[in-house]
Amino acid sequence: MIIAIDGPAGSGKSTVAKELSKRLGFTYIDTGAMYRAVAYKIKEECIDPEDLNAVLNLMKGIDIKLEQSNDGVKVFLNGKDISPYIRTEEIGKIASKIARFSEVRKILVGMQREIGKKSKNAVIEGRDTGTVIFPDAEIKIFMTASPDVRAKRRWEELKKKGIEISYQQILREIKERDHLDETRKDSPLKPASDAIIIDTTDRSIEEVLNQILEIVKKGNIF
Ligand code: DC
Repeated sequence: MIIAIDGPAGSGKSTVAKELSKRLGFTYIDTGAMYRAVAYKIKEECIDPEDLNAVLNLMKGIDIKLEQSNDGVKVFLNGKDISPYIRTEEIGKIASKIARFSEVRKILVGMQREIGKKSKNAVIEGRDTGTVIFPDAEIKIFMTASPDVRAKRRWEELKKKGIEISYQQILREIKERDHLDETRKDSPLKPASDAIIIDTTDRSIEEVLNQILEIVKKGNIF
């Protein structure tokens, strides 16, 4: 069974996807982490993310592996665990930029389908998992929330980590990333026509998880 979960940054999809895969014993596939791994390398090599040829060249020499761990997934780039370094806004923005290139998407989507096919059951999370990667997924969820709430969640998360950044700046960055993800020509962020839309603005993670678990239990697919 494939459960595809899509949605914008801060919608709660990562937390839900991680916990859901844990409770169901499914493989967790974090597709955003793969875009972030490429973005990390771009930053490390000081490459212009707008330069498609340079990005593709760089992608030839990289090996990305996702490894299940207790707190979600570990991301290895050419054998090095880069998980602690890829969750920044800067890396997210570079990831969003390169995600506009069809050639980049094609390579990563190929890898994501491979991982999905190898796993018996998987929760796959991203922006195009139900529309492009696995259009035949048994369950498709599109999680969303107002930009204000998403920015507040992100702000609180960063504050907990001791990172001081203004709420207004986060809100601006979230809106910017939404715009990049929703307006790209190839696989823009949007719900699949048969996705169940869950607005998490006023709902807790536990409530959302229970709703999805109920859907899985009932086999209530569409
Ligand atoms: O989910 P995330 O914030 O880790 O994703 C980072 C960026 O990667 C996101 O802004 C757009 C891109 N992305 C994508 O285009 N398709 C996916 N399936 C996952 C992420």
